[in-house]
Amino acid sequence: MTESRSVRLTSESHCDDFPVLSGTIGPDVIDLRTLPQKTGLFSFDPGLGGTATCTSSITYIDGDKGILLHRGYPIEELALNASFTETAYLLLYGELPTTDEYQVFRTNMNTHRLLNEQIRNFFNGFRRDAHPMAILCGTVGALSAFYHDGLDISQPATRDLSARRLIAKVPTIAAWAYKYSIGEPFIYPDEEMSFSENFLHMLFARPGNHYRVNPVLARAMDRILLLHADHEQNASTTTVRLVGSTGANPYACISAGIAALWGPAHGGANEAALNMLQSIGSREGIPAFLEKVKDRNSGVRLMGFGHRVYKNFDPRAKILQATCHEVIEELGLERDPLLDLAMELEKVATEDDYFVSRKLYPNVDFYSGLILKALGIPTSMFTVLFAVARTVGWVSQWKEMIEDPSARINRPRQLYIGQPERKFVPMSERG
Ligand code: CMC
Repeated sequence: MTESRSVRLTSESHCDDFPVLSGTIGPDVIDLRTLPQKTGLFSFDPGLGGTATCTSSITYIDGDKGILLHRGYPIEELALNASFTETAYLLLYGELPTTDEYQVFRTNMNTHRLLNEQIRNFFNGFRRDAHPMAILCGTVGALSAFYHDGLDISQPATRDLSARRLIAKVPTIAAWAYKYSIGEPFIYPDEEMSFSENFLHMLFARPGNHYRVNPVLARAMDRILLLHADHEQNASTTTVRLVGSTGANPYACISAGIAALWGPAHGGANEAALNMLQSIGSREGIPAFLEKVKDRNSGVRLMGFGHRVYKNFDPRAKILQATCHEVIEELGLERDPLLDLAMELEKVATEDDYFVSRKLYPNVDFYSGLILKALGIPTSMFTVLFAVARTVGWVSQWKEMIEDPSARINRPRQLYIGQPERKFVPMSERG
């Protein structure tokens, strides 16, 4: 971070200079940390769309150009050449691993997949129809009650241990939440399998059915996970950083991130996109549905379209579009009416002036839902899968924040628009 120049903010009563800071790439920022002291004023930015709340060297997005870099590497190159586990190493430690580093990391991570056997008991406390996100959120938070040796966040080795544990154990909890919801026995993790093979195995194997992981589908799962691993300061990552800024333990922080991800405007979008397709029903229903979307008063949105940052094609969506076709071909699902409807909706919407003029393109959730459906994963598990992937980003960003000497507890201010001070009126005098 360098200070290149300053900007002068002037008002009737103030004239102050504020430094302008430059990162390696991307827009400069005005350093407003001294704004209240110098001027007695605060900045007002609901939604934080114009505010950088931290420095980070993990992920870079240029939304206008449709660029996404992890530690400098374009997402397209990672998706084509690296595995999810390799990308996790990159996000956590800043460099791609050597062969030896990768083997040590992979072996170590795989041993962390198993859960303390007592955690099994938690599942019985949930109703069978509980949403798996509810189970995931509660159980991940409760890991802090089991892994006490991961709670001292002042130690780098302990932070690393907790980070690895979370990445490795969240898939086991996720798969067991699914198994519980369908009344099947839990499948224990297999240390020999890759991250994605093991995850598919825990989701779909049954005692005695000799489940074999299809390599095309394992690759598709790996790609979905890789593409969701991190995405800069989105709502759930910001939540993890905010909770982490209080010194809370990492299991509590990631549980908070899972809660934030659950919302339909964030991680719930792929589930919402598929539900939307089901409610449209057929190609014939598209025009009437799009009319509703365009009617401001209807409150209906085209789920899986639009992004706060990307005002161009989301690069992840492009990769998933191709993966989606690969999976459909492998499984012989070309004639699936829902997929057919999705392709038609994409075509119509991307040519429609309403979406073109607002720069609303399909985002990653439009395709990930379709692929997951083709893989046989129920819609209620979609956001859970997103959480499995994003845990890598959350723990990387959490570690970066704890290791940043300038990090402080996040405590924004407000523009108060309520009653000014007034005198208390006893109930007997209130009429
Ligand atoms: N369908 C219809 N209109 C839309 C949509 C949409 N999906 N998204 C934005 N618009 C319109 C919006 O009504 C507004 O129109 P106008 O200028 O006439 O008022 C304009 O586009 C700008 O929208 P905005 O609400 O200012 O955009 P935002 O940056 O606040 O919202 C968003 C971003 C992702 C919440 C929104 O695009 C949306 O709700 N999309 C659908 C949900 C979705 O797919 N979410 C997943 C996001 S990607 C996952 C991730 O990276 O976490």
